[in-house]
Amino acid sequence: MAETIKVLISEEEIDKRIKELAVEISKAYEGKSLHMICVLKGGVFFMTELSKHMTIPVSIDFMSVSSYGDATVSSGRVKIVKDLDESIEGKDVLIVEDIIDSGRTLSYLLAMLKGRMPASLKLCTLLDKPDRREMEVAVDYTGFKIPDAFVVGYGLDYKQIYRNLPYIGVVEL
Ligand code: IMP
Ligand code: MG
Repeated sequence: MAETIKVLISEEEIDKRIKELAVEISKAYEGKSLHMICVLKGGVFFMTELSKHMTIPVSIDFMSVSSYGDATVSSGRVKIVKDLDESIEGKDVLIVEDIIDSGRTLSYLLAMLKGRMPASLKLCTLLDKPDRREMEVAVDYTGFKIPDAFVVGYGLDYKQIYRNLPYIGVVEL
């Protein structure tokens, strides 16, 4: 059955906000270089767009974790499907995520990556659903805070589709 997608955040609003974040983050790391870690697959659209507007030297790496399966409810499990290619020891690291929901994925990832001795470790998310938080996560940069609804687009999927939408939409099942 086809779902109806209602626009929540337009392409223009997202583009504008990402440019603002790139300015803010570039300023915060002035004189340094930044190692951006994208959490696949959802974070990829956000990270490429964000990195294009950064004005400091940037390197990138990718990591894939699974927690959800094909459901709209968290299974609570976090598994590393693909680890980073490079060491993060001594680097200023920024994790780039699509969305923080329960916070399970990120609280696990942050603890694990902290153990690898980066010079610093911060978190940037395009979307935050604070109402759904189960585990405390310190978010350093947030694109948009959104209400508790299942969203798709700009990297986010429903059953692996809709990631390519240039806007954020709410799925009406
Ligand atoms: P958390 O561990 O509950 O914070 O969930 C993190 C992951 O769940 C995100 O990186 C997404 O992949 C997925 N997720 C959470 N909320 C949504 C949503 O509204 N739409 C699509 N995926 C979501
Ligand atoms: Mg994700």
